[in-house]
Amino acid sequence: MDINWYYFSDTNTPPGEIKILLEKQRFKLTATNQIEKLHTLLIQNNQSVLFLKAHTLYNVYELCQEISVLYPHVYIILIVPDNMENLKKAMLMGASDTLRSSYDHDELSEAIDHAKKYMEHRAKKDQLYLLKEKSRVIAISNPKGGVGRTLLTVNLAISFARMGKKVAVIDGNLQFGEVAMYYNMKPKRTIYEWVKEGYGRENYSIDQYMTKVDGDVSILAAPPRPEFFEGISDEHIKVSVEAAKKLFDIVLIDMPVFLSEIHLRCLDMADEILLLAINEISVLRLSQLYLETLESIKQRDKVKLVLNRTAKGQGIEIKKIEEILEMPLFHSLPDQANVANSSIKAGQPFMLSNSRSQLGKGVWKLAEMLFDQMNKGPAESKKAKRWFPVGK
Ligand SMILES: Nc1ncnc2c1ncn2[C@@H]1O[C@H](COP(=O)(O)OP(=O)(O)OP(=O)(O)O)[C@@H](O)[C@H]1O
Ligand SMILES: [Mg+2]
Repeated sequence: MDINWYYFSDTNTPPGEIKILLEKQRFKLTATNQIEKLHTLLIQNNQSVLFLKAHTLYNVYELCQEISVLYPHVYIILIVPDNMENLKKAMLMGASDTLRSSYDHDELSEAIDHAKKYMEHRAKKDQLYLLKEKSRVIAISNPKGGVGRTLLTVNLAISFARMGKKVAVIDGNLQFGEVAMYYNMKPKRTIYEWVKEGYGRENYSIDQYMTKVDGDVSILAAPPRPEFFEGISDEHIKVSVEAAKKLFDIVLIDMPVFLSEIHLRCLDMADEILLLAINEISVLRLSQLYLETLESIKQRDKVKLVLNRTAKGQGIEIKKIEEILEMPLFHSLPDQANVANSSIKAGQPFMLSNSRSQLGKGVWKLAEMLFDQMNKGPAESKKAKRWFPVGK
């Protein structure tokens, strides 16, 4: 696929490593410090990625906003002075990614990688629309609370959205759901209002009861008060998921802990169940029991095991965990309390504020793995499953 790579700087700073790295990948970079020339280039070419560096003649954020309004198809990577980095502001101004002026090799290659992936997905737009008909429902689950389900759900959602997918998150914890809180939102409309006003009425589509949050994700929040959950049934959940599937490529469900009718219905609707566990014997025991239950209701085949809060050399060996749960580990996420806690405290998912942290990279990788599997045919997925000997 042809991507036009541009570099603009309002100083005389040359592109340096950007050019070297792109040329290594056989891409050509066109650099300019003249705004008129930049306009001509962007008008002419559709598939464009622009490294935008400004600090003297222009304010980098204002220039970004102007370019993104004039050329909404351009993928802008904003290069900002270290003391001015503000990802949220950059996104509001239309940037797709940011780099600090003092970026290192890894940060730059990661930014180039993300841009390439995004442009590839966009080029396959027709396919994306087709995929919506086959939209995927992913349930993030564990029978034990506090293992990181909500934090993973909200960050996974942002990762998929960054890959060009239309993403919805449904808060399955109808009494004490925290999805909205983790995005620092207090929605006026929730699943409760949808059940009251919209359920069964064609003109009241589910997205009118969703809230758009930073990172281009739509959430169907839990009712505003815990006692309101009573009027919501598993049938409501079923219809809401079905409606969301028509509008979104990926529907994530932050699963409730209790094995209620609602929980079972979510499992039934899910294409994939991410069993999020941590390396603690009590959680693993409950996860084992949970898997047995899933087996009895014929849902176990959908499960992928993800281990959260892992730290090298600590806890039970991975091989042993795989034996206990009789399934291969799909992915593990590192224990990074400062990133996790500060993102919850600020109500800003770390995929927005700290995507280059180890935890951010781990979640991005998980999204990529799930994404790749979604695009595989059923035959290939089955083959991938068979490598692990079930039973001992
Ligand atoms: N990878 C991680 N590293 C460090 N801390 C983490 C990580 N993931 C989650 N946490 C911490 O675990 C706690 C629980 O996270 P979270 O609320 O997402 O869990 P949950 O499974 O949704 O819990 P609940 O049962 O209350 O809904 C939070 O304090 C969070 O900061
Ligand atoms: Mg939670």
